Amino acid sequence: MSERKARLSIDGKEGTIELPVYEGSTGPDVIDVRSLVNAGLFTYDPGFVSTAACDSDITYIDGDAGVLLHRGYPIEQLAEKSNFLEVCYLLLNGELPNASEADVFENEIRYHTMVDEQIHLFFKGFPRNAHPMAMLCGVVGALSAFYHDKLDIDNPEHRMQAAIRVIAKMPTLAAMCYKHGVGQPFMYPQNDMSLAENFIHMMFGTPCEPPKVNPIIAKAMDTLFLLHADHEQNASTSTVRLAGSTGSNPYACIASGIAALWGPAHGGANEAVLEMLYEIGDESRIEEFIVRAKDKDDPFRLMGFGHRVYKNYDPRATVIRGICKQVLDELGSDNDPLFRIARKLEKIALEDDYFIERKLFPNVDFYSGIILKAIGIPTSLFTVIFATGRTPGWIAHWHEMLSESYRIGRPRQLYKGHTKRDYPA
Ligand code: CMC
Repeated sequence: MSERKARLSIDGKEGTIELPVYEGSTGPDVIDVRSLVNAGLFTYDPGFVSTAACDSDITYIDGDAGVLLHRGYPIEQLAEKSNFLEVCYLLLNGELPNASEADVFENEIRYHTMVDEQIHLFFKGFPRNAHPMAMLCGVVGALSAFYHDKLDIDNPEHRMQAAIRVIAKMPTLAAMCYKHGVGQPFMYPQNDMSLAENFIHMMFGTPCEPPKVNPIIAKAMDTLFLLHADHEQNASTSTVRLAGSTGSNPYACIASGIAALWGPAHGGANEAVLEMLYEIGDESRIEEFIVRAKDKDDPFRLMGFGHRVYKNYDPRATVIRGICKQVLDELGSDNDPLFRIARKLEKIALEDDYFIERKLFPNVDFYSGIILKAIGIPTSLFTVIFATGRTPGWIAHWHEMLSESYRIGRPRQLYKGHTKRDYPA
């Protein structure tokens, strides 16, 4: 029990409400406001700016210091020394795997990459021009209909099975979203390839010709997935937790996370970055867009700049900026007019007082959009790639929540509507 107390008195009225204060292993202390309801009070925090909705051991962010730790390990070290699947294991299990644990985990993933053939029929029902996120949301939700064998959410072994299935199948489904859009046959995953190689194979291969998987591009893809693997209680992860708190099926919970990720203020930003670069169209128009971004009467914002949590720099952006350079050099895309606009925009924004004062730095999505475009991934698929990377985070948080005692998530409100009135006679 907490010894420390916060004391609340309202309008100097008699009596003080005492609220326990808890310390995490690092980061801000939290005030436990749960007893306020007994005093007929709610807290008010739209956007959850100051609200901790759970406790968690998975990921820690210090936005001011630009720190992101998964299970204590800095993201920069993981990006340099680890790989996506090892980070998936770490997020789910709390520790890095030893060699044999890594082997078992990778094999488990490898042997769950195929999807049921019936899933192909779901895709056939979508128009060719359906947005890939619309398809992904639908088919991941539909997985709920296929895996009845291991669906006891109170059983940790079943939860881990769901985690393996969803992590393994997501790259396959992501590639299927693309193939459906371009009218090419779906490619089956290959068990002798790594997860990132397999993704490139399923995206760019055809039954007539397997793609040549460039190791630099495969490594960049793997690191891109890794950098997106988790980000503590962001909008989509909180959505997965909220859906999971009702006892829902894990695939339905992940589908709800995909829906939340879709918006341009969250995962849709990498797509919005490219759309913005196309709209700018020429280096000579950058200034015009900078002026618009600063204008309070114009809703336009520079996509790929700013972050709710990182108010200094985004450590993922530092890593991904280096990868972006490597990929552009490897593919000889450095002179592409779009990339020149991106480079110039980055430079101008980093030197502009408006952006400096507000601590608006390029975020991870600014660079991920540029890398994905260079690799040849269409813009509309960008958020699907983000979802593929974020899946281990979503499922790890869902698993963590169900491993502990939890209650259904049920926020309250400040009601401002009509008070009781009678229906007209
Ligand atoms: N362009 C121009 N001005 C901006 C921008 C931007 N991208 N972002 C914030 N501002 C201004 C904003 O107008 C406000 O100015 P003022 O103080 O004069 O009113 C100030 O900066 C603070 O902004 P805020 O809206 O209070 O910040 P927020 O924490 O609520 O929003 C954000 C964070 C990421 C939604 C926002 O910065 C944004 O819309 N960025 C563009 C979209 C984007 O790149 N999103 C991806 C986020 S990273 C991926 C992820 O984690 O999902």
